[in-house]
Amino acid sequence: MESLRRLRVFSGALHGSRAFTGPTSVMIDICNRCNFRCSLCWYHSPFLEHDDEWRKKVLDFDVLEGTIDELTDLGVQEIQLTGEGEPFMHPRVMDVIRRIKSRRLRLQITSNGSFFDDGIVSEIVDLGVDELSISVWAGTEEGFVGLHPGSSAKTFDVVVENLHKLHQAKRQQGVDLPKTRIVNAICTTNVREIPEMIELGERVGADEIYFRFGGITPGVEFLSLTEEDVRYLKELLPSLVKSREGKRPETNLGGNMLDLLDTGDFDRNYLHGLADQIPCYVGWYFARILVDGTVVPCCACDDSKEMGNISRQRFRDVWNGERYQEFRKRAMGSLDDPYFEGCGCLSTCPHYHSNAAFHGRAPVRMSNRLRRR
Ligand SMILES: C[S@@+](CC[C@H](N)C(=O)[O-])C[C@H]1O[C@@H](n2cnc3c(N)ncnc32)[C@H](O)[C@@H]1O
Ligand code: SF4
Ligand code: SF4
Repeated sequence: MESLRRLRVFSGALHGSRAFTGPTSVMIDICNRCNFRCSLCWYHSPFLEHDDEWRKKVLDFDVLEGTIDELTDLGVQEIQLTGEGEPFMHPRVMDVIRRIKSRRLRLQITSNGSFFDDGIVSEIVDLGVDELSISVWAGTEEGFVGLHPGSSAKTFDVVVENLHKLHQAKRQQGVDLPKTRIVNAICTTNVREIPEMIELGERVGADEIYFRFGGITPGVEFLSLTEEDVRYLKELLPSLVKSREGKRPETNLGGNMLDLLDTGDFDRNYLHGLADQIPCYVGWYFARILVDGTVVPCCACDDSKEMGNISRQRFRDVWNGERYQEFRKRAMGSLDDPYFEGCGCLSTCPHYHSNAAFHGRAPVRMSNRLRRR
């Protein structure tokens, strides 16, 4: 069954514009509201300008309910609840989670971890939510408060306590899910806390600690890593990676972070010159639904890439509509195309690693024919 689905996905790429099955994974932004104001946050940083109306938006449950069913029928495998706010501030978040799990879809949720009371934790574990990524961005109370203006040490303690609760609930029920991944976006404020971030992950029984360089939006340049930070990291990482060998939780510190440091351009999180070496396949394996129902093909493209809207159309009609087909065709061509202005393909493609994995997994005879047209 799965191999048939994969074949259909690759057949779409070979066709060049149509899709013969639904996307593998769909990211749904259910809520723009957030109770935190993390300094580095792309959307809610107190150092950026905000539109208060935008900040109140939530995706209508009735629209979402039908779309989840439709996505299941289209063969979608995974839903990611993340977006531009805190998913657990959606008034019906547990109904959303129940619906997704009742359709046996894989569910990954990205959260700040501050809302996990006993009831939520026990239901998340019971329902078999597959993965929780919790953005902590700190290893100590001081570090947390430094990067979350307006918060107190107590807020950090609540998040840590909630991570403990999750671990305990999993142990009590004898299950491995949800996999818990602590996410740390690194900037100059928290770069010296990496060892404490790892200790925290150990204490709360996290499955993985994921580090990435913080994306620096205009307005928070003062959070960029300094030359001294870079020197510190270059010294720290090799020994830290060695000392973590075979230990849990796993970290991605042995990945390409050191190489990225040499580029001086960290927030793209992949190396220069790679994105345009392979076609962009995102139009076959991924879609994102924004909080107002707009469907976009990629996390980096601006409003000009609206493919349709689930408040007015069925997802399947958007997915194989003219706009989507044009996007797919062009994404197999040059990323220098003015069509991609506003996508940042060659500077900050967030799907580079998935595109590379897709390219690498294509059946050999197919991959010979999959190249930029
Ligand atoms: C906007 S948040 C929304 C979900 C949830 N509120 C949270 O913080 O996890 C989605 C993801 O963006 C990440 N994020 C936000 N601003 C970032 C930045 N400037 N650089 C890197 N990651 C960032 C968060 O760590 C999280 O993984
Ligand atoms: S919790 Fe998430 S959405 Fe809220 S401010 Fe922090 S990073 Fe942004
Ligand atoms: S940023 Fe460009 S190359 Fe990357 S996934 Fe989006 S459209 Fe494709």
